[in-house]
Parts: sequence; structure tokens; C-alpha cells
Amino acid sequence: MSDRRAPREPAPPPGPSPASTTGWGLVPLRLFLGVTFAFAGGQKLADPRFFRPSYPGSIQAQLHAAAAGSPIRPLLDVVAHFPVLIGVVLALGQLAVGAATLLGLAPRLAAVGGMAISAALFLTVSFRDSPYYLGSDIVFLFAWTPLALVGTGGAWSLDVPWRRLARPGHGRHADHGRDPALIGRREVLQRARPIALIGAVALLAGGLAEWIAGRSGRPPGARTRAPSSSTGPPMAGAGGPATTGPGGQATAPGAGRPIGRVGAVPPGQALGFTDPATGDPAYVVQPSAGRLVAFDAICPHARCRVGYVPGASEFVCPCHGSRFDGRTGALLAGPATVGLTPIAVVESPDGTIYAGGPRP
Ligand code: FES
Repeated sequence: MSDRRAPREPAPPPGPSPASTTGWGLVPLRLFLGVTFAFAGGQKLADPRFFRPSYPGSIQAQLHAAAAGSPIRPLLDVVAHFPVLIGVVLALGQLAVGAATLLGLAPRLAAVGGMAISAALFLTVSFRDSPYYLGSDIVFLFAWTPLALVGTGGAWSLDVPWRRLARPGHGRHADHGRDPALIGRREVLQRARPIALIGAVALLAGGLAEWIAGRSGRPPGARTRAPSSSTGPPMAGAGGPATTGPGGQATAPGAGRPIGRVGAVPPGQALGFTDPATGDPAYVVQPSAGRLVAFDAICPHARCRVGYVPGASEFVCPCHGSRFDGRTGALLAGPATVGLTPIAVVESPDGTIYAGGPRP
């Protein structure tokens, strides 16, 4: 009997295993998460106001605002003493996670980093969002999960060539027949080196910035104060019978309680006060000479306290970045969907501002 067995299949050429369908299916998610995190990190580093304590959207203001409703407040109270360090670490962490996700370098480790950042943001800035699914950070947290479990699946990844370069003489055939998504503990540690290096640089840079800020006279961890103007030239017409309320309509003097003097609110500035009607923090602003407007300082999105930016004449919320017109309280940018609540204010002939009268 002759042996008529079918010829054997030639062995496949050495090289990485083909990308999995799952890997290609995750590419859109990787693109979105990678671009978003890299953009968020870069935006923080490129904006000097992010590290300026007086800016309502600064890291200092965000830490302060987040502490109010966070379940990890004791931890926030500690880290709030190092706001610049926290800001630098957060920004560089987002940059590193975003870049690694886009390039497919240490993708599972990057995804775990993304989950950690999202979880931290969820427990701080988004914890008060209601219903919970309106906050983006909890969505990001779960969006990272498939990437943490699967990695790139071999699709669009620099991981394999990187590994070969890192291990000359061993990499040529090491990946043959092996799912790149399945990596061992030793390899995870190897891949963690670049990110650990970035983290160390971030810690050093943040510590240095904190040290410089401390030497410049600003106490580390200085918190944002409600903008209030107690100096400046008296307002034109101070002491006169100014009787304009929000929106410029005439109102009757004598309603409400005194909240300050007109001289404390120069044109373009704001004065913080407590709304006698609700107990909420509020601001009175003089957008132009002789005109006073006031608004409740509680953001309508998730009740963080907004801050006033004099140069831009707008209010900014430190929690999620909503912006409001400083003259009208109207919404300029979300995620809030409505503007700030106006408060009626009047000026008495002696220059005292009264608030708490009938709502317009
Ligand atoms: Fe979310 Fe103000 S609380 S934008």
C-alpha cells in the first residue's frame, strides 16, 4: 500500500499573529479615548490659568470645589496642599495614557491608567452629578474596561515591534503563534518602564513647580477666594439714586438686605455676598458704569460654586467648565443647560446695595 497522505501545510512565516477581529473592533474606541485624554492633558499644560489660583477653573479651585461633595474628602484635603503637583501629574498622566492608547504601546497598562484617572475624577468632580449617568467620568471608567481586558488585540499597535527592539536576538520569533493580547507579568513590568519614567518626571516637575510657587510667596495649596473687589475708585454716580436690577429694569430701592457698598464693585468687577433669600453664595457685578446685576453663584449643572473672571466678564464653573455671561448670567458653554439665576439688587441713595427683593 502506498502512502498517499495529503502534503503537509507549509509552516507560516515567523512574525506576529494577525490582528484579531476584536482588536480592530476596538480601534474606534481607542481613537476616541486616546485623542480625548491626550487633548485633556495637553489643554491643561497649555493653559497657564489652570495653575493660577485666582482663576475659577484652576486646579486649586477644582480641588476646593470637588472636596465639598466627594466621598474621599479627607484625601482631597491632604492633596489640596499640593495643587500644582496634582495638576501636573494629572495632565501628564492623561497625556501619557492618551498617547500610549493611540500608539498601542503598553495598551492594557495605559487602559488601567485611564480607568484610575476616570475613577479619581468620578469620585471628585463628577460624584454629585445626578442622575449618575449624566457625568462623563463614570462613562469613561467603563469605556476603558474592554481595553484593559483585551489590549489592542494586535490591531494597529507598536507594541510588537517595540518588544522586538527592546529584546534583540529574542524578539524575532518570540511572538509567532501567540496572541499579543496575552502578556505575562514580566512583560507588563517591562512595558511599565516608560510610563513609570514619565510619572517620575511628572512628580519631579510638579514638586519643582510647587517649590517655586512656594518661594514666590504664594502658600502651597492656596485656595480660590470668591472674587470680591474691596478697592478701586468709587463708581461714577455712587450715592445717586441708581435703581437698576438684573436686566437693567427699574426696581424700587429699600427691598432686601444690605450686601455692600457700590464703591466695592468697580466697573467690570464682582463682589461676593450671600443671597438673603436663599442662603446661596452670589455675586453682584457692575458690567458697565451705573448698572448693577447679581446672580446666584451656584452652578445649575451640579451645584458647584462658580467664580468670576473680571477680564473676560464671565463666570466659570470649576467642576465641569460651564461658562456664563458676566453681564446677563446667560449660558455660554455647557455642560450646564441653563444660565445663572438672577437676583434683584438695588442701590440706595447713600450707595448701599440691597439684595433679596422680589425675583425679576
Ligand atoms: Fe458641572 Fe458646574 S457643576 S459645570
